[in-house]
Amino acid sequence: MRATAVAQPNIALIKYWGKRDVARNLPAVGSLSITLRDLTTSMQVELDRDATCDGLTVNGVEDSAMLPRLSQCLDRVIGPERAHARIESQCNFPVAAGLASSASAFAAATVAAAAAAGKEYDQSMLASLAGHASGSAARSLYGGFVELANTDAGIEVRTLRPAADWPLVVVIAITETGPKAVGSTEAMEISRKTSPFYSSWVAQQDADLDIARAAVELRDFDKLADVAEHNCLKMHSIMWASRPPLVYWNAATMRCMETVRELRHAGCGVFFTIDAGPQVKAVCQPEDAARVEAALTATTGVKDVMTSGLGDGARLVAER
Ligand code: DP6
Repeated sequence: MRATAVAQPNIALIKYWGKRDVARNLPAVGSLSITLRDLTTSMQVELDRDATCDGLTVNGVEDSAMLPRLSQCLDRVIGPERAHARIESQCNFPVAAGLASSASAFAAATVAAAAAAGKEYDQSMLASLAGHASGSAARSLYGGFVELANTDAGIEVRTLRPAADWPLVVVIAITETGPKAVGSTEAMEISRKTSPFYSSWVAQQDADLDIARAAVELRDFDKLADVAEHNCLKMHSIMWASRPPLVYWNAATMRCMETVRELRHAGCGVFFTIDAGPQVKAVCQPEDAARVEAALTATTGVKDVMTSGLGDGARLVAER
């Protein structure tokens, strides 16, 4: 009746932005990501027939904001007749600031809830259930370099290459610690409905995925760097051209991009990517990580820097 799972956030190099089916939360485009190792979310789910409602604490503090989405996630994983749940989440990084905290939270919650209820789902079913809660969460079920493909039936997620095979490092420059103004779910719909660039984004995504998949297969860093930065800037162009405009960057975000560009021109193996928030994720070759970390720490406006290797997918750590 009680189970705990751990998951890490993932960073998309080829982004998911837009839905083809809002009710089933199916993405309009495939995506490709790397799962992190050192930023973790642990979720304990305890089912209690005597409880009268679900409850959630995040790092020991009661949290009502995320509870409705988590309750719906548990309904889908366990079934609507389920017992109420006490959910305890521990997160070692800032939540809701564009660091993909919902991806690790829903991945861990899905795995923990299924185990607590004695459901024996396979990995792809768990990924679909997590993806129904939050599209990017489906990718955190898997480790290393992960592709999420759109199929007629839904989504298909797989590891293209395990983390140990190509141990890249991600340096995250935190430029703002507060929650973001518009959440991804709402922002994607604004883009789909109003951005003049949205349809060409969807049309071009398979080509970017082909290039990125080949780059991962060949461990071709420069090829991956070029397509990932291009794909990220395309996604932000759609956001900027939405009505109302969705601009997640601040001045420090721009400065970090400049820092990364300068490092790259100076011969460092590094590229940037940015999600629906102001933080900059610099993906680098392990031998260049210390230099990247120092340069981003010294960039004006950077409040903190976090570094992570690549890691495994969501997993069960305790069950009773
Ligand atoms: C910019 O997975 O948070 O990080 O499915 O509505 O929960 P929902 O969206 P979410 O969106 C992630 C958007 C992104 C790009 C990405 O991770 O692919």
